[in-house]
Amino acid sequence: MPHPPMWSLAAATAALTLLAAQQPAYDEPLRPQFHFTPARYFMNDPNGLVFFKGEYHLFYQHNPQGEQWGHMSWGHAVSADLLHWQHLPVALPEADGLMIFSGSVVVDWRNTSGFCAAGRDDRSCLVAVYTGDGHGKQAQNLAYSNDRGRTWTKYANNPVLDLGLKDFRDPKTFWYEPTRRWIMVTVLPDQHKVRLFASPDLKGWTPLSEFGPAGATGGVWECPDLFELPIEGEPGRTRWVLDVDINPGGIAGGSAGQYFIGTFDGTRFVADEPAERTRWSDYGADFYASQSFSDIPAIDGRRIWIGWTSNWLYANDEPSVTWRGAQSIPRSLTLRRDPDGLRLVQSPVAEIERLRLAPAPTVITGATVLPGSAEIELHVKPGAWTEAGIRLWNDAGEEAIVGVTREPLEVFVDRRRSRRAPFHAAYPARHAGPLAWRYGELTVRILFDRSVIEVFAAGGETVITDRVFPTQPFDRLELLPSSGAQPDARMWTLVSVWNRPH
Ligand code: FRU
Repeated sequence: MPHPPMWSLAAATAALTLLAAQQPAYDEPLRPQFHFTPARYFMNDPNGLVFFKGEYHLFYQHNPQGEQWGHMSWGHAVSADLLHWQHLPVALPEADGLMIFSGSVVVDWRNTSGFCAAGRDDRSCLVAVYTGDGHGKQAQNLAYSNDRGRTWTKYANNPVLDLGLKDFRDPKTFWYEPTRRWIMVTVLPDQHKVRLFASPDLKGWTPLSEFGPAGATGGVWECPDLFELPIEGEPGRTRWVLDVDINPGGIAGGSAGQYFIGTFDGTRFVADEPAERTRWSDYGADFYASQSFSDIPAIDGRRIWIGWTSNWLYANDEPSVTWRGAQSIPRSLTLRRDPDGLRLVQSPVAEIERLRLAPAPTVITGATVLPGSAEIELHVKPGAWTEAGIRLWNDAGEEAIVGVTREPLEVFVDRRRSRRAPFHAAYPARHAGPLAWRYGELTVRILFDRSVIEVFAAGGETVITDRVFPTQPFDRLELLPSSGAQPDARMWTLVSVWNRPH
């Protein structure tokens, strides 16, 4: 019998060095530096967004085995500030032929479920409500955690809501205080319907009502959310927002988010506008399956959501290596009234300002060096221009353009020439969203993060999220040539949230 090999000190050191080299450095050329990405492998929808005991939890649709969709499980990360994330082990793995599809997490403050094993003063625990996909159907399931989300137990009597349907998914659950019961919002994807259910204990569910078809119906409906939002400048007034994603049939092709504004009385959502009216949350190709956080303390009061920055047209083909998929910057939501009614307004959470390398921005006048992660703000005045904006580019002759046009008045992202050999036919495209002159000037706030561009125009009234995959980094920035007055342009370099103490 040969002896097992004895390791020399040199060999052991070499092995350790190799191991260290294999750790993700979070520095691959396309790896965003202030957006969440999985350490390795595939990610899609954000799931189970919840704030509990000082931590924001981000669960996500994850393939723990590969760089394409499959073996769906819930990946997990926590953060104290919505920006610096700590990766935790997979929270809910695929098992027994059941994949763990999208869903939500709530804090069961009063132990209505009986799952909470906490002490006398604290009866709370976390309960996940998710779709189990397998054995030819989709049904809603529960899992719970008594250790701040570190370990999870799947409920022994799953599923808790089973209509015997092949497609019935993506439960978003919240506590509705006026009737003191849980509400679950789900979709019947191919019927373009949202279905609401109620429960006293998260275990037994009774049907409440249905919404749809309405708005855009060119693809399946997925990942609904329902929440109340304040109306800016109208103290004490609120309206409810029903968010429903659609794939394909989105405004920029493929996957996209749409929303309806209306009322919710604990039983039924009623839209304010006619069913033919479609409102898009984002005019880019890469903002899908957004979900809002549950249980953000009232003292904070924000409604914050995160969306997956990809599109089912090419999600499996994005040319990133070792990891695939990124989440949007967390965005605060409000409603704003304009002559056309109420609309959803989104802004990056204020925490992002802490990532600015220096408080004072650099003023951009012509061409300049573009850092890998930056925030750029344009102020455009009315005047004799037809197009104003910025061009991000590199030595390989690749570019992305972000700007506004006057006729029609729109904000746009043009990524047609952003990669020499497009990896998918739908990738080279220009995406635009409507704007209105209302404030004397237009502001365009651009978050650039290596392969993510998020544009918030007119104070977040029109948003465009587009991924860009140049073959080498965009490292130059210049203002678009303009015959009229140039926009005021400023830029902050943003620091990485990975690997570096902050
Ligand atoms: C949306 C979606 C959900 C589903 C999940 C599966 O992107 O299709 O409807 O639960 O992804 O990964």
